Amino acid sequence: MSSRKQSVLIARELLAGGLEVRGARFELRRGGSKAKRSDILDLAAGGEAVIIDPTDPVDEELLAAAGRQLLVVANNAVGYDNVDLEACRRRGVLVTNTPDVLTNATAELALALTLSAARGLGAAESELRAGLWTGWTPGANLGTELSGATFGIVGLGRIGRRYAELVRPLAAELLHASGSPKPDAESELRITQVGLDDLLRRSDFVSLHAPATPQTRHLIDAQALSLMKPSAVLVNTGRGTLVDSAALSQALAEGLIGAAGLDVYEAEPSVPEALLKAPNCVLLPHVGSATGKARHAMARLAAENVVEVLEGSEPLTPVS
Ligand code: GLV
Repeated sequence: MSSRKQSVLIARELLAGGLEVRGARFELRRGGSKAKRSDILDLAAGGEAVIIDPTDPVDEELLAAAGRQLLVVANNAVGYDNVDLEACRRRGVLVTNTPDVLTNATAELALALTLSAARGLGAAESELRAGLWTGWTPGANLGTELSGATFGIVGLGRIGRRYAELVRPLAAELLHASGSPKPDAESELRITQVGLDDLLRRSDFVSLHAPATPQTRHLIDAQALSLMKPSAVLVNTGRGTLVDSAALSQALAEGLIGAAGLDVYEAEPSVPEALLKAPNCVLLPHVGSATGKARHAMARLAAENVVEVLEGSEPLTPVS
């Protein structure tokens, strides 16, 4: 008598080293990188597990399409604002994410964006590639130095803390605005907790590492931007919804702040036209965790979470 293999949907793609090893025990379904929402809904039907990317919503519609036998949703990301946790809880579906393994990659990308925006590297490179470089010019492409600056970190979780460690040797002062005090980090890194407004007023560089929640939506809005220094650089490697992009475009255009470096957007993969046109804004396509090391480790962790649950054990990294 043969019993049906449990079915795992990889909604889009999962890097090698994820499920292949144990794959023979499961029926693997793959949406592929071009999967449409309707493909994902169809493929989810009757499955026990779904591995999904952070830009795909996991909502009542997907859970209903999957059916009552669904046991686990493994988000291939540390952020899980795409997942309706309450709907999953109601249906008894476990949710997992991929913390820790992408901390270095994402914090390093935030540092790269900080440097890049501070020195206007995006615009300088575009100018050179367009054949517009006429030679060494004393007054051209003048940027800002990180050395001796005040850094404000919004959200001192794993990634925010790693960013703080990376900039500590350069910083004159480190500030953080977070939900709670972080006594260990505060003493080890000499970082001071302040209110968000205070942080925005005092910082030369502001890097966002807070999770996307209804409370943090448009945390950086027109009013917040108006508090920042005219030379300040805003970096966002967290989630697009943390920043009101219309207000940011206006602030960049009017010189209310100096520059921005963005890896995430409110409606990915769409990027507002005004930001695309802003010379003082460095734009990346959500590549915070995109190192081979981090992305392979994320794939393994997402897969291990699924395997643990399907084998009746606790997942390794459940959400909350
Ligand atoms: C990527 O955006 C992540 O949350 O891991």
